[in-house]
Amino acid sequence: MTVHGRIAGSSNVTLLVSCRLGDRELLAVYKPARGERPLWDFPDGLHRREVAAYLLSEQLGWGLVPDTVTRHEAPLGPGSVQRYVDEDGTSHYFTLREDPAWGRPLITMAAFDVVANNADRKSGHVLLAEDRLWGIDNGLCFHDEPKLRTVIWDFAGAPLPEDLAADLAGLLHTGLDDRIEALLEGDEAPALLERTARLVEEGCLPVPDEGGRWPPYPWPLV
Ligand SMILES: Nc1ncnc2c1ncn2[C@@H]1O[C@H](COP(=O)(O)OP(=O)(O)O)[C@@H](O)[C@H]1O
Ligand SMILES: [Mg+2]
Repeated sequence: MTVHGRIAGSSNVTLLVSCRLGDRELLAVYKPARGERPLWDFPDGLHRREVAAYLLSEQLGWGLVPDTVTRHEAPLGPGSVQRYVDEDGTSHYFTLREDPAWGRPLITMAAFDVVANNADRKSGHVLLAEDRLWGIDNGLCFHDEPKLRTVIWDFAGAPLPEDLAADLAGLLHTGLDDRIEALLEGDEAPALLERTARLVEEGCLPVPDEGGRWPPYPWPLV
């Protein structure tokens, strides 16, 4: 792995790197554990949550998160490494929502964030690349208490599409991928299954909890 530099504006140490295997080379985003800024409302190990989010999206067959792995040996120590997607640099949720063609992938992303309990789905964490949408920066997921903070509220109360409900029911049936369980801690895995069961049971996307202790959206929004 070769480090090119730090990505400007990132809140943690987030590095653009190249990974090489033989004569193959890939750009990636490396988040070393050591560079995580401690948060008062989240246990540490954001890099583990990045990997768990990828595995969850894969287990559901939703393909929303670029390939993400844990690297134990890397220039700044253990961390997550995510394939860099070559986005157009101008699209984000608030522009994509204007185009009905993205409605369906955005509902999938909204359902994913409910299940993952994403506390940081900013507009700029939805990327358009390779003719599809990607959800990045998933480190603030999987807390065992409700913490959904997202900008994707356009589908609040909308029916959950049947195929998504079937994918979620499939997850409940087979149980969580062991690798996801190993990356989570305490009650986080059971809480994930409970959120999944609730979403399937309710059959529609939640509405924001306006009376909650915290706003139901992240800050800044983009
Ligand atoms: N997989 C990726 N592909 C392309 N760009 C990415 C990817 N991951 C991060 N980025 C870019 O890097 C920026 C910072 O990454 P992010 O995951 O948001 O880090 P932080 O946790 O520090 O906020 C993002 O806003 C995005 O522009
Ligand atoms: Mg970010």
